[in-house]
Amino acid sequence: MKPALVVGNWKMHGTRSEAVKLATGVLEASRRNLSVEVVLAPPFTALAAVSAALRCGAVRLAAQNLHWETEGAFTGEISVSMLRDLDCRYVIVGHSERRRLFGESDAIVAKKVGAALSAGLRPILCVGETLGERRRGRTNGVIARQLRVALKGLSKSAIEKLTFAYEPVWAIGTGKNATPEQIAAVHRFVRELLRRRAGLSARACRILYGGSVRPDNAAELAAQPEVDGVLVGGASLKVGAFASIVRSFGATAV
Ligand code: PGA
Repeated sequence: MKPALVVGNWKMHGTRSEAVKLATGVLEASRRNLSVEVVLAPPFTALAAVSAALRCGAVRLAAQNLHWETEGAFTGEISVSMLRDLDCRYVIVGHSERRRLFGESDAIVAKKVGAALSAGLRPILCVGETLGERRRGRTNGVIARQLRVALKGLSKSAIEKLTFAYEPVWAIGTGKNATPEQIAAVHRFVRELLRRRAGLSARACRILYGGSVRPDNAAELAAQPEVDGVLVGGASLKVGAFASIVRSFGATAV
């Protein structure tokens, strides 16, 4: 059984010294929760410093983004080999902020997933619908499209290396949560798509929930059999809040 996975996505927050302080605090707090896999995704500028701070411990490193080319004239971009060089194990791909604010299409997300996998990085692939799409009854259609394009051409063994994060766009940074029923329905839908697409068994891949996860709702999420962990934004910026979320998942194994 894979352990529950709790990922902190720090987004565009923190200088190097702030990042190291936060990472060190999380590392200390996580020593008591060895049954949970804890991953931190600092901004690019803090990856090297956080990587060094995490060297002696079980907390793992993720990047928030990557470029799909191996190298070249791509001003401002970061390649997979640069991320591997910093001991990143995971990379977040297709976060709704990248899709919405930076124009990342499903096709670009697919290229990033492929590039990450070919270099041995594990993508955390984010999918999710907007409020308008949910109200129009398009939730499953949107998620099916995002997954179909992102997984195009991938083998079963490649897809098995992915982690999925269901992040309803309307729940991210808004304080609004999807209900346990809404989350379970989408997670089941994703598992069924993975079964049909690649013959994957229900527990082959972890499916995280993301969107306004906080200490006061983490226990309820951890109690959901469909939720294999969480992707945490705002609440990952405080050691106490993040550690409390990690603790909530401490008793669960998926
Ligand atoms: P939030 O962000 O926890 O601040 O809602 C979640 C995310 O963007 O992954």
